[in-house]
Amino acid sequence: MTEQKIPVWSPAELHRHLSENSQFAILDVRNQSEFNAWKIEGKVPIPTTNLSYFDLLDLEDEDEELAAAFARAIPKRLKDGLPRRGPILAVCARGETSPHVAEGLRRLGYEAFNLAGGMKAWGDHYEVRVVEETSRLTIVQISRPARGCLSYLLASDGEAMVVDPARHIEVYTRIAAERELRITAVLDTHLQADHLSGGVALAKAVGADYWLHPYDSIYPDDLLPATFSFRYLEDGTTFNLGNVSVRALHLPGHTLGMINPLVDDRFLLSSDTLFIDSIGRPDLGGKAKAWIPLLFNSLQQVLELPDRTIVLPAHFSQMQEADEQGCYRAPVSALRSRNEGLRMLSQGLAAFSAYIEASLPEHPQSYDDIRRVNTGLLQVDEAKASELELGRNRCALSQREAEKLTGKEASVA
Ligand SMILES: [Fe+2]
Repeated sequence: MTEQKIPVWSPAELHRHLSENSQFAILDVRNQSEFNAWKIEGKVPIPTTNLSYFDLLDLEDEDEELAAAFARAIPKRLKDGLPRRGPILAVCARGETSPHVAEGLRRLGYEAFNLAGGMKAWGDHYEVRVVEETSRLTIVQISRPARGCLSYLLASDGEAMVVDPARHIEVYTRIAAERELRITAVLDTHLQADHLSGGVALAKAVGADYWLHPYDSIYPDDLLPATFSFRYLEDGTTFNLGNVSVRALHLPGHTLGMINPLVDDRFLLSSDTLFIDSIGRPDLGGKAKAWIPLLFNSLQQVLELPDRTIVLPAHFSQMQEADEQGCYRAPVSALRSRNEGLRMLSQGLAAFSAYIEASLPEHPQSYDDIRRVNTGLLQVDEAKASELELGRNRCALSQREAEKLTGKEASVA
């Protein structure tokens, strides 16, 4: 039985179903630890069953067809655990074993599909949304839905700048080629800890300069400097991109060298300083106590921007943060009341610090290696790169912990 014969959902189709709140269920046959580390999440909870491929497999003999064995085992192992109405998406790590499960389900009368390429393909899937398109300025938001990562292509008068590119740099060169744009600058807003940056590689590929704040070119633990050359991005560095200006605001807190580009005085690429529903965590450098006041001051500076300023973050935690066009954006005016981290500013630094310290999620071990790769101190192959990037980003304060502290969770329950 080959995968081609089984109806599939591509990662793009899965994203569409998640965006549209389609009714479907998931049978995820990865092992439990892989499943617990990273699941498919939508705007609403997706009914999901996890039972590993080998726990589900019940071969009568070595020659038995896999789909037949699954068709026999599924009713026994899952009882009535799978909904009869609506599609069921069979999911595995790479889309190589789940087709047999999907075929077994089909033989039992389920409307089953296989996720093409499995979680690997889902993790590497990108969505492109146009945030702004006028004769002066184009802003394209590129999201990696499975990981909650957002990057940007800004363009004006044929020139383009890419901000926080992911390692799959062909996504950006393709958009630039389709729009007949020349990428003249590539920048990382900070030393990324959650994903491997494509910044250096993209700049090299297109012959552009790579920009980074010098503080973030140093690995925070042993203070080893980056092994690549780059141009210094500092507070006030201004790019003339076609007909618009892009001004760098130095807003430390999440990292010491955090830069938020202010585009045309109207759009703030807020990176990991400010998200739609949360704020960036200041502890990844291991200096939370010292960096919380920096974050406090930086967020105050964001609040001083005009209300109409559109915030475009570098991450999202949940798909429901997107607006009706699927863009992750909001004006400062809306975030003043919506964003809990911003609301906490009014209570003063001491209360803000207590809030942050109570809301810090765990520090993923992979983040240390990712930062080493992003400073050029460590080289990894594709398999290791995928392994490091497994799962959703953990750059924001933990919503759940924060909700506990502010009593929101109690009122929901
Ligand atoms: Fe970050």
